[in-house]
Amino acid sequence: MAEQREQFRSRLGFILAAAGSAVGIGNLVGFPVNAAKSGGAAFLLVYALFVVFICLPVMIAEMSLGRNTQRNPLGAYNAASDNNKMWRIGGWLAIITPFMIAVFYQVLTVWLLAYFIGAVTGNLEAMAQPDYFSTFINSNSVFLYLIVLTILIGIILNSGVQNGIERLAKILMPTLFVMLLTLVVFVFTLPNAGIGLQFYLVPDIGKITPSVISNALGQAFFSLSLGMGILITYGSYVSKRDSIAGGAKMVALVDTSVAFFAGLLILPAIFVFNPEINTEELSTSSVSLVFTFLPKIFLSLQTLVGVIGANLFASAFFLLVFFAALTSQVSILQVPISAFQDELGYSRLKSVLSLGGCAALLVVASTMSFGMSPFFTEFTAYGGAVKSLFDVIIDVFYDTILPLNGLIVCLFVVYRWRKTSFNQELSVGDDNFEGSFTQKYVNLSVGTFIPVVLLLVFINTVALKFFGFSFV
Ligand code: PFF
Repeated sequence: MAEQREQFRSRLGFILAAAGSAVGIGNLVGFPVNAAKSGGAAFLLVYALFVVFICLPVMIAEMSLGRNTQRNPLGAYNAASDNNKMWRIGGWLAIITPFMIAVFYQVLTVWLLAYFIGAVTGNLEAMAQPDYFSTFINSNSVFLYLIVLTILIGIILNSGVQNGIERLAKILMPTLFVMLLTLVVFVFTLPNAGIGLQFYLVPDIGKITPSVISNALGQAFFSLSLGMGILITYGSYVSKRDSIAGGAKMVALVDTSVAFFAGLLILPAIFVFNPEINTEELSTSSVSLVFTFLPKIFLSLQTLVGVIGANLFASAFFLLVFFAALTSQVSILQVPISAFQDELGYSRLKSVLSLGGCAALLVVASTMSFGMSPFFTEFTAYGGAVKSLFDVIIDVFYDTILPLNGLIVCLFVVYRWRKTSFNQELSVGDDNFEGSFTQKYVNLSVGTFIPVVLLLVFINTVALKFFGFSFV
């Protein structure tokens, strides 16, 4: 019921909760890997432009839709379109997408849990070996961690302790940020870090290719949790006394800063440990990069703080990254779970069990798609490459559907919900909004320029990923 919906008690509470959900594997693993793969500084530049000029207005649109309708994404699309059937597609996509993203996310969160246990048990030396990661993800122990994690997430979701976890996240997230900065400073002191720094910060405009653009947009959407209904849901808890535009700017700033510093750590580290590496080799980077280089960084830290000190630091760091992933994972799953409760009238337990059961099957299949099962490993082929089930989920949901959902939100907000309602909602709790630069830009772009850019990038991504066709 709209009237009974809880609200964030303060603006800071909302910003921290939204940032806690947004900061996760996308920032700490996805961003550095994509930056390494897509030309370093060229990627960073395109990413930053997307965040400011495209993603921020989309974020504002999602949040205002949520606050105005006080509903989950499916309900929000229905309420703001007077139950128009066509727009329901937008609502359904905003439910299916987070569900599939949650599947992909859980596979990676399991690895983080295992790396935390590895660090605690003093296994850093082995974890820094080049083959450790690929051997580990194909070992049976993955399933043990998977069971532990699934039970943990199930308990959190069903017991409603999310609030407690979010409160804890408010202390742990800043701690993670400080540890990240400490590691950045440490890596800067190592030989050859400067080469990585240059690769990361000095853009070569010639490296901005269609694939860099596609990767940057997908990554920005994922990292800011856009196109997944999460911000519609968060928006529905924002008090009418708070400024949506102001909150959105803060969330984007926090999220982008964490991603930026993760890049500032990993990219120089690549060159510290592998000074001879060239762009060609970097272009094939995958998540294994972060899982191999972090243990290497911690091992080097031993010279400074000793073996025990380095192990303690590594354990705390992996625990915090795991925690960041766990808070994100819980918030992603929350979207389809509340939709099932609100729209289908399921109880909380029934929603958790039915969605969790389906997700668990897909997670197991994805976990087996790195070599364990030939069927899931060579699941299909398109765009000139053989693809595993895990690849398909990433290509379809991470890279393609997120910007498409963003496009639908923009069109919906401007052409169905209408500009006046949108503007009115944004002025609520924000006396300075009327006449501000933000208002002018958002009004100008959300119905015109942004949908065009999102459509072009969507076409580009589909052509590249699924048909192996590049426009340039
Ligand atoms: N934005 C998170 C990350 O970068 O890891 C992932 C995420 C969290 C996506 C919550 C969606 C969401 F609802």
